Amino acid sequence: MKDFPEITAARDVLFERMQTAKNRSDVLKSSELKGLFGKIKDQSPEARAEFGQAVNQLRLDLEAKLSEYENQEEDIIQIDVTAPWDVNAKKPELLGTENGSQHPLTTELENVINIFTRMGFEAVESRQLDDDFHMFGSLNFPENHPARDGYDTFRTEEGFIPPAHTSTMQNRILQDGRAKLEAGGNIAAVSYGRVFRNEDLDATHEHTFYQCEGVFVSSDATLGEMLGTLRSFFEAYYGQKLKIKTQPGYFPFVEPGLEFLIERPELLGGKPGEWLEMLGCGMIHPNVLKMAGIDPVKYRGFAWGGGIDRLVMLKYGIEDVRHFESGKLAFLRKFA
Ligand code: PHE
Repeated sequence: MKDFPEITAARDVLFERMQTAKNRSDVLKSSELKGLFGKIKDQSPEARAEFGQAVNQLRLDLEAKLSEYENQEEDIIQIDVTAPWDVNAKKPELLGTENGSQHPLTTELENVINIFTRMGFEAVESRQLDDDFHMFGSLNFPENHPARDGYDTFRTEEGFIPPAHTSTMQNRILQDGRAKLEAGGNIAAVSYGRVFRNEDLDATHEHTFYQCEGVFVSSDATLGEMLGTLRSFFEAYYGQKLKIKTQPGYFPFVEPGLEFLIERPELLGGKPGEWLEMLGCGMIHPNVLKMAGIDPVKYRGFAWGGGIDRLVMLKYGIEDVRHFESGKLAFLRKFA
């Protein structure tokens, strides 16, 4: 077919417009196309038929392209943005691992868990959304008791609680371990995970942080065993001998309740006599055992719980807890 520059030029323009137009069918009604049809009669008698055919072919080609686009649109799958990725697509393109590194809190949490599992503790992750019973009731906090206020808890509109401590796992650990206990064994578990408190932020307070909690129950558990366990843990974690001491502390779920302190190691910038409070601990309150169906006359236990962030800050001399959740690469790269 003969080449008519006018038609070729219009073809380029119209195909391009078809690609970008919001209403693609408008292209078929465009003034350019109408203009070309109008020009058929102006052609010389020899050229008229061929010109007419070429214009018509252009329209057919545009119509074909239009239905191609329309078919494609019908094929587009509706995406459910709330579904896990594998429902909607093949595996997503993920950043290569060489572009990232493990967060220091994750690495250190793994170190902590390794030490306890080597000591014979099972490890369970805590929940990030829990309820009033696990946060307070199962832990011997009386209704409307002021001790509840000490935990600065967030609440969802439905009344759920993003847990303010990993002690929310105590009742579950105790119930799960009851059969083992009755078969003559012990309960020995640590729970770990993210916790949340609605408090003012500063260099030592974050709304989001991590805790690790231990629960041990046997027929004759003692406070001395607990202190030995904790000393072994801290000495393994910091890789050196440590001085420890306790002072009275109040937690409704332990009796007696203690705060556990270590003397800041000289290697980590400490001066003798500088004591750091590392965690809360004590003998599990009989009511807490009872609430999990364990007879407090036959069995006794101890529990402890404390922040991972604080452990890690001391280990690396990190001066501000807010670095952890800041997402700042300059900070994270120091641990890569
Ligand atoms: N859950 C307590 C807190 O976060 C710590 C604790 C755990 C105390 C277990 C005693 C026993 O403050």
